[in-house]
Amino acid sequence: MEKVIAYTRVSKSVRDKLQEDYDVVYFENYEYIHDSRFVQALKEASGIIGLELKVTKELLDLAPNLKIVSNVSVGYDNLDLHELTKRNILATNTPGVLTDTVADAVLGMMLATSRRIPELDTFVKNGEWKEFLRLEHFGVDMHHKTVGIIGMGSIGQAISKRCHLGFDMDVLYYNRSRKYEVENKYNAKFYSLHELLMESDFIVLMVPALPETEKMIGEKEFNLMKESAIFINGSRGKNIDEMALYRALRNKDILAAGIDVFEKEPVEIDNPLLTLENIVTLPHLGAATKENELAMSTLAAKNLVIGLNGGCPPNLINKELEESVIL
Ligand code: DGY
Repeated sequence: MEKVIAYTRVSKSVRDKLQEDYDVVYFENYEYIHDSRFVQALKEASGIIGLELKVTKELLDLAPNLKIVSNVSVGYDNLDLHELTKRNILATNTPGVLTDTVADAVLGMMLATSRRIPELDTFVKNGEWKEFLRLEHFGVDMHHKTVGIIGMGSIGQAISKRCHLGFDMDVLYYNRSRKYEVENKYNAKFYSLHELLMESDFIVLMVPALPETEKMIGEKEFNLMKESAIFINGSRGKNIDEMALYRALRNKDILAAGIDVFEKEPVEIDNPLLTLENIVTLPHLGAATKENELAMSTLAAKNLVIGLNGGCPPNLINKELEESVIL
């Protein structure tokens, strides 16, 4: 039986199914790297399936038999693609299935920040609600405002749909290429990044983590935003300059932010962003629902099994290897 390493977020039912045909070793937490059982499993493993394992050159040196790394995520910034491709190891992700789930989470952050929901929840629980709510606790409306979406992939499109059809919002977007379908369906307008930052009430960052998107939102970009702007990051922490966001929030250069992702995860407790009141911080929960975990795990397992059997998985990332698969 071939060995498969499953780590962190792989649904139990999917692991059980894989276990019928493979020798599955499961690692539940991030401490795998210090675990001799993990190093031993790597020596024999043909496949890895899971969420956000850092697949580096050093790790690959310990895994001579590896054929495929199947990410249970759409993002793949955890993978050294160059090394994987060089070694003929397939890499796959899980696009599509998580789109609506992540879009819902982004809308949640937009509402949580604009209506100050977490802050006022604490206010109630602390027994501070003694009279009619005062102006100082009021939020701002989300409906009929302008949202600027940076990155119009499938999640950006699902956010546009919700904002335009559900909240009567105007949608602006910035993307590598025009998305005429979104323009037609949701009246979205293609803007330069500069104009989008200046015009939007809500700015939502949804770009993948690539070398060219690293810290793409920093001091200069926060300075372009309105003082009433709300900034949301549902993509990856490294796409923004966290210290610049901290300064923008502290100096009230922007109104608020909702952050589901951090440069270092889990976030360190001394991260200055955690000291601010005008930010809603979440533990990278965008894709984390029970239904979606199953959908993502199932798709990742399908990619894994096809790859292990010599086929071309439907969500192959390193397309250069397409021709090297035998089926
Ligand atoms: C994804 O799928 O990339 C989510 O952010 C979970 O990591």
